[in-house]
Amino acid sequence: MGNKYLCSRRNFFSRVAYLVTGAAVMERFTGSLFASQSAPVNRPLIVTSKTNLYVTEPLLSAAWKTLEEGGSPLDAAEKAVNISEIDPRDPSVGYGGLPNEEGVLQLDASCMDGPSYNAGAVACLENIKTPCSVARLVMERTDHLMLVGSGALRFARMHGFKEENLLTEEARKGWVAWKENISESDYYHPPEPKKVPMESEGTINVLALDAHGDMAGVTSTVGHKFKIPGRVGDSPIIGAGLYVDNDVGAAGSTGHGAESIKICSSFLVVEKMREGMTPQEACEYVCRRIAEKHKGKPMFNVKMVALNKSGEFGQASVRGQIDEKTRKLQGLGYAVYDRQGFRILYGKPILPPMTPEERGKTPPR
Ligand code: GLY
Repeated sequence: MGNKYLCSRRNFFSRVAYLVTGAAVMERFTGSLFASQSAPVNRPLIVTSKTNLYVTEPLLSAAWKTLEEGGSPLDAAEKAVNISEIDPRDPSVGYGGLPNEEGVLQLDASCMDGPSYNAGAVACLENIKTPCSVARLVMERTDHLMLVGSGALRFARMHGFKEENLLTEEARKGWVAWKENISESDYYHPPEPKKVPMESEGTINVLALDAHGDMAGVTSTVGHKFKIPGRVGDSPIIGAGLYVDNDVGAAGSTGHGAESIKICSSFLVVEKMREGMTPQEACEYVCRRIAEKHKGKPMFNVKMVALNKSGEFGQASVRGQIDEKTRKLQGLGYAVYDRQGFRILYGKPILPPMTPEERGKTPPR
């Protein structure tokens, strides 16, 4: 078993080396406009916005293994996102996520496949642990792109998805604590000592590039915690929460969805890469533009991750964070898995984080 695995691993890597060399030669001949000419080809590659350690490494390893075993980039990205969706410890994605203001989880997800230039999405989907897999079925088994609410649930049931209660005890307690602490002039009394509201880490994007240069992406989220029922964010909107162009690259966004939708953030990142920017430059361009639109004082954050066809990648955010040890401004984390293995990296912030006072003026996103 071990030998067979090692052997197939070795075959996989020789195949990768062969394909990568072949692709590099092809791209030199065709003079690809879409990748930085000087960048060495780095394929396969998987990039994610997520950095919560308990889940990020296993999910990227699983995506890598899926590619090793001959799966498509979409199979790899879906596999990775499913791991986050079913993990009850992640309060921002799938099962165990923080609910809307009525204590109900309404999930948004999308997928986009580079080779077929096809996409699928679901919004406000209740009771299904793996919304990104339903989004994939919308793409593969319907002529539509997006299903929402009860229609999405009926479609999921038709395909055999099991309805489950997604609200874990921890998320329920987090919701009750939020409800009891919103106002001092309502009928709810928080117990003493008051509970600190639960933090959520954010939406997940996974972008995958295989040895042939094909790519795909998947995004999944609970949206904003304690949102108004029926609210739809950027994650299921193709061009905002996710965009893939197999000739150029892929991008995904997390953070304040409304801003990402207004600027068509992921589409814009990919278009900037088409014009010749690296993924890093394109992510910074979009985040800077969002910051400028808000006169340099955006009261929210948006984070963009991207990769291109030759396997360069990057990340930027509108707002950064302060490193706890050095007390210096730092970008937000993201993670990659390539031939060098798994690693967590930090992107580029356009602005410092919001002050605690500014935070106090925004809803609990
Ligand atoms: N980016 C997640 C949301 O706004 O729903």
